[in-house]
Amino acid sequence: MTTVLVAGGAGYIGSHVCKALAEAGDTPVCYDTLEKGHEWAVKWGSLERGDVGDAVRLDEVLSRHRPQAVIHLAGYIEVGESVRQPERYLRNNAAKTDTLIEAALRHGIEAFVFSSSCAVYGLPQMEFLAETHPIAPISPYAESKAHVERALAAAAGRGLRSASLRYFNAAGADPGGAIGEAHDPETHLMPLAVDAALGFGPAVTLLGTDYPTPDGSCIRDFVHVNDLANAHLRAIDWLRRSGGSSRHEAFNLGSGTGYSVRQVLAETGRIAGRLVPHAVGPRRPGDSPKLVGDIAKARRELGWTPKRDLAAQVEDTLRWRRMMPRQSSSGPEESEPQRQRT
Ligand SMILES: NC(=O)c1ccc[n+]([C@@H]2O[C@H](COP(=O)([O-])OP(=O)(O)OC[C@H]3O[C@@H](n4cnc5c(N)ncnc54)[C@H](O)[C@@H]3O)[C@@H](O)[C@H]2O)c1
Repeated sequence: MTTVLVAGGAGYIGSHVCKALAEAGDTPVCYDTLEKGHEWAVKWGSLERGDVGDAVRLDEVLSRHRPQAVIHLAGYIEVGESVRQPERYLRNNAAKTDTLIEAALRHGIEAFVFSSSCAVYGLPQMEFLAETHPIAPISPYAESKAHVERALAAAAGRGLRSASLRYFNAAGADPGGAIGEAHDPETHLMPLAVDAALGFGPAVTLLGTDYPTPDGSCIRDFVHVNDLANAHLRAIDWLRRSGGSSRHEAFNLGSGTGYSVRQVLAETGRIAGRLVPHAVGPRRPGDSPKLVGDIAKARRELGWTPKRDLAAQVEDTLRWRRMMPRQSSSGPEESEPQRQRT
């Protein structure tokens, strides 16, 4: 049984990680400012309000709970916003993580797992992105992730074992329906498509339909949030088993399969039983035509296999968006048609 500090545990992916830990018999301790996360999403383990940049508060919480591992998901997540407000992203995601890494070193943490992103690869130079692809961030968000990976590699020399998990596009929700994606504003394709189909949100805008892809829309690699959560537990085991020398390793976490934006809309429409209203807009600067992960390393080293495919991701998102809390912070409640936002 492992006690794990889950920084950012009140957010979308973090809440699924807390659930997975609890189900495995471990003890999650959610550490979150709640600036972007939700108190209703902290259902497994205790909540400690705090900032990863606050060394005093971290010492207090780490001394009280004495975790063996840290999973660090806390941060801002909008690439576009990071271009407009680079300082905010570099401070919250990069500089504050330096404080968390120092705290982990002070408290003898045995395994540190970090939420990185495929954004660190920048513009793809190979069809399936492998961990050996050059690190060439093209946004402050991606630069903040690359900074933390470098800091963790340096901290390995001081005894901190760590893994950077480079997520592709997290999607879906816990099939139980109690937690799911609830960002404000929501910018991710699947919840936007589902909301448009259900009449809870506006038509989806396709950001470019003239890419060199079979249907002209961008291709992305969607991975179910529960599969992602499971990979964190495997990474902790792997780090604790790897023993001996200190190390930092990066792993891609995707499905290894690409779907175009149009394919996601079609699949959402098929499963929802209604067409997804959409409009065509211009390309968004910095978007790559295709980002699909090579996940052989995570399969091989972590023994990890993603299980919930695109259809399952859409089904789970549909169930969640019907139930998710929209105006109250008290917990999930059914969305009635008269509360639709369009
Ligand atoms: N969602 C994706 O598809 C995706 C893809 C690649 C990487 N990631 C990374 O995964 C992580 C989690 O993403 P998410 O979608 O769950 O985001 P989220 O916004 O739902 O969750 C992030 C959580 O971190 C908290 N937080 C932010 N700054 C903090 C700070 N300084 N101290 C303490 N808590 C703080 C927020 O309150 C929030 O609860 C992020 O680091 C993100 O960059 C996500």
